[in-house]
Amino acid sequence: MEKSQETLLIESHGARNCGTVPVVRCNPPLALAPMVGLSHSALRLLILELGGVGLFFSEMLSVTRLPIENETVSPFLCRTPAEYPFFYQIFASPDQEILPAVDRLQALNAQGIDLNLGCPAPVLRKQGAGSFMPLEGVKKTVADLRAATNLPISAKIRLGRELDEQKLISFCKMLVDEGIDLLTVHGRLQGEKFCRKARWDWIGKVKSVIPIPVIANGGIFSVDDARKCLNQSGADGLMLGRGAVCKPWLFADIAKSLYNHNIPAEVPLDKIYFRFAELLEERFQPERRIGRLKQFTHYFAGNFTFGHHLASRVQNSKSIEEATEKAADFFDTAERRTSA
Ligand SMILES: Cc1cc2nc3c(=O)[nH]c(=O)nc-3n(C[C@H](O)[C@H](O)[C@H](O)COP(=O)(O)O)c2cc1C
Repeated sequence: MEKSQETLLIESHGARNCGTVPVVRCNPPLALAPMVGLSHSALRLLILELGGVGLFFSEMLSVTRLPIENETVSPFLCRTPAEYPFFYQIFASPDQEILPAVDRLQALNAQGIDLNLGCPAPVLRKQGAGSFMPLEGVKKTVADLRAATNLPISAKIRLGRELDEQKLISFCKMLVDEGIDLLTVHGRLQGEKFCRKARWDWIGKVKSVIPIPVIANGGIFSVDDARKCLNQSGADGLMLGRGAVCKPWLFADIAKSLYNHNIPAEVPLDKIYFRFAELLEERFQPERRIGRLKQFTHYFAGNFTFGHHLASRVQNSKSIEEATEKAADFFDTAERRTSA
């Protein structure tokens, strides 16, 4: 089954302010995943320039820190009007108050708010947040979020602790009953590493029984993967994570091939890299730049046969200037991977 629908509509079922129901339009239905240290303004702007993205998610943000974070300097909150539509992702434990964070995000012109329910990072274990949240806690937190905003709300989940269709489906139905408007399913179990193949067919089991849009996520690194994932899951849209960091033009390739979008001409790899470094300089204070360039380079280096040389040279750099100089030397003789 090829997807013909181009625009993903995310309609809020919120009830707090009974005015017009907010609807978010994502065209094409391709989203950038929330990724700590990677899903920030510089990467978003780079991807926007290359084309093909229809929805952004921020990296996960703590509900306790959000109300006190200064958006004019915070690398987590800085955002331009072009980065639109935009869902901020939050993580919370059931005993934490959500309303102040939600009010803050509304003031920051959020188009939606996403609850992280899938992340198995140890930092979330301590708080009982992300995938460590107990069932009753999830129910309460989603209900709190629903009561706090009229914006579309979404959740991002994995398939569960073990493969159990009934459990997965009843969990997703509970989320819908509590009022979420969109669900992103990362097709791996909680303990599974990213190198394991994602189970796109299991995302389809969820999609076929819930009445809200479903976005499929996990292991999409090419147009072919995107096509297969849509076919196997029947999802309403796709979310790209590492694939979009390695190949920031992947959205454009997918949008062109699967959704008939007109896309700007191809840009050489070195130009993309230097543009990213430039955007880091434009968007972040000096001490916030090099770490983000290193993290990006870790993935981007995968485009070259000897990419680890690029990654290690940048890794050993102390500033953006030093890193870009070393990168320029590398690009002079670098060979692009044929599969990249
Ligand atoms: C460096 C990194 C940071 C991530 N941070 C988050 C996060 O903040 N919130 C979240 O829900 N998932 C996070 N994820 C998971 C991604 O959103 C996504 O589900 C995962 O990478 C699978 O998609 P992919 O195969 O397209 O990369 C992170 C993944 C990576 C690699």
